[in-house]
Amino acid sequence: MEKEEARKRIAELTEMLDRWNYEYYVLNESSVSDAEFDRYMNELMLLEMEHPDLKLKNSPTQRVGGQVASEFRKVPHKRMMLSLANAFNEDDMRDFDRKLRETLGKDVIDYMGEVKIDGLGMSLIYDGGELQYCLTRGDGNVGEDVTQNVITIRSIPTHVAEKRPFEVRGEVFMPHASLEKLNRERAIRGEPLLANARNAAAGSIRQLDSRIASSRGLDAFWYYLVNASEINQHVHSDSLDYLDSLGFKTNHERRRLHGIEEVLAYIREYTEKRPTLGYDIDGLVFKVDNIDDYDVIGYTAKTPKWAIAYKFPPMEVSTKLLDIFLTVGRTGRITPNAVLEPVRVQGSLVQRATLNNEDFIKEKGLMIGDTVILRKAADVIPEVVRPLPEKRNGSERPFIMSDVCPECGQPLTKVQGLHYCLNEECPSRKIEAIIHFASRDAMDIDGMGQRVVEEFFGEGFMTDIPEVYTLYNRASEIKALDGWSDKSIDSLLNAIEISKGRSLEKLLFGLGIKEIGSKTAKVLARRFKTLDAFFPLTEEDYLKVDDIGPVAAHSLFTYFHDEGNLQMIETLRFMGVNFDYLGADATDTSSYFFGKTVVLTGALQRYSRTEMTNLLESIGAKVAGSVSKKTDIVIAGSDAGSKLTKAQALGIEVIDEETALSYLEKNIA
Ligand code: IVH
Repeated sequence: MEKEEARKRIAELTEMLDRWNYEYYVLNESSVSDAEFDRYMNELMLLEMEHPDLKLKNSPTQRVGGQVASEFRKVPHKRMMLSLANAFNEDDMRDFDRKLRETLGKDVIDYMGEVKIDGLGMSLIYDGGELQYCLTRGDGNVGEDVTQNVITIRSIPTHVAEKRPFEVRGEVFMPHASLEKLNRERAIRGEPLLANARNAAAGSIRQLDSRIASSRGLDAFWYYLVNASEINQHVHSDSLDYLDSLGFKTNHERRRLHGIEEVLAYIREYTEKRPTLGYDIDGLVFKVDNIDDYDVIGYTAKTPKWAIAYKFPPMEVSTKLLDIFLTVGRTGRITPNAVLEPVRVQGSLVQRATLNNEDFIKEKGLMIGDTVILRKAADVIPEVVRPLPEKRNGSERPFIMSDVCPECGQPLTKVQGLHYCLNEECPSRKIEAIIHFASRDAMDIDGMGQRVVEEFFGEGFMTDIPEVYTLYNRASEIKALDGWSDKSIDSLLNAIEISKGRSLEKLLFGLGIKEIGSKTAKVLARRFKTLDAFFPLTEEDYLKVDDIGPVAAHSLFTYFHDEGNLQMIETLRFMGVNFDYLGADATDTSSYFFGKTVVLTGALQRYSRTEMTNLLESIGAKVAGSVSKKTDIVIAGSDAGSKLTKAQALGIEVIDEETALSYLEKNIA
């Protein structure tokens, strides 16, 4: 076919296929048969194969998946992806309303009530009428580019009539029907069933192979036009109607609510309707409808003050406590766990729950065989609340705590009501330590989760953390195991290799030092820059660091004075593991604000408070909420009030926004 002719036909086919996708996936109606749709799709694929240079960026053919990524590109959000403050009852809701009425000086406020979709927050960025890319929420500041997977969701428009740049936020989720279908297929293949729609959706979006993501039946609702006023939208409910008109799928359970009483009625109504929606919601969201009020109402560091999430109370169900078994954690701590008759609560199938420790079981008076009340909130782990003794039939038996480790048989030691296995060589502890080392917030070794670690440990391929880095010697043995191919081994070994280059905070957290969570690890890494700096430190040295108390200081000191740990660290060094801090602020200690405690006050012009806070923190400053003797610098915007007065009284350096920005110049993109 002539090039020009091909170009024309490609445009035609694209327009048709996009329209049919929209009809089918957004409007739930369709004007073509599947066969016809497929025929045109095939024609387009063939044309694109013949003329690869004519293939459009957002071609409908992309939506069947096919691209395989090696990892997701990290991309900073232009505007931070905020979360929402929570309300748990009517009183919290009335407080929210009262504060807003005070701030705005209004008697009644118009709200938008929406369902809170329990999925994955996502941002879509459009420009020139084309979808540019899709980002996950990430930590709110930096997300991951998952465009290839997200565009397999056919209800998402790739071409829109609005040509100005805009950003839309919403939630990708797995409808109940998709989860059920997926589980039927998994059951046939003998694969473990997915218990929870949210995790299933998250797993699908994180698939590197977009064909898999495409097969998962995901969908999405869009609920927030980020730069609404830039496209002349001043009322939230209108902006959602506008998104509708552009072809986005918005959620139609939404309602404009006049005043708090209507808000509360909406809550009661949707508490009832919740099970019938066909997808999981974990609450309701209420937003002030007038967008022009947002600036007046303002933001906290992480949440807008003009919106709130009402969380449903945790659901309670009853089930049977079939048995109690013990597990050994990374630190040797023994935890009793409940084996429950499987029950569905809040979108997940629950069959295990932690029972914390022996005293917990005694205090609740739990017996094996009891009928128990189980409680689960949406994003929270299930909890055994109490037994129902009236349901006993005499076959129940008391739980007797073992005095030896269930794994290695060594006698347990009891410290402050908790049981520990102190055997450093206990296999369970080692397995847990490796799982922790490889986990996402630690060395982030993709593909090395609990099951793989347990399998390799069981086979004797690795018995300790450093042996993760000798696994390449075992490639042929791994291949002999069920379910491993050259490709999957390659990608695991590759992930292991990549992990050698992670920044110090990840390694530090991965070592599993008691009391050192990922946040503290980050503070320490920023402060000391390299692992070698820790060896000579005393407890006093650690105590000088913000956020480190005596318990953590002691734990760090003990860890870096243990011969076994030092040997392990040397082996890691020998394997080529990076020991240095590589954060954005790693080398740049030259910034005026580095290491300083800064307080913001008054209204800033160029940046929002959140943006300014992020910027300062990213270059190693600490941003505090109030002025004290510890404050180094106050940045005062217009109409600064009591903080400014206090700073002046304490003789603290006060600078205006322009001056702050001039110091920050080289840090602003
Ligand atoms: S509005 C700045 N509306 O819940 C306002 N969020 O817990 C941004 N979510 O991060 C959020 N349904 O991922 C909004 N109708 C809805 C929502 C919703 C689900 C998620 C979203 C948000 C999280 C906060």
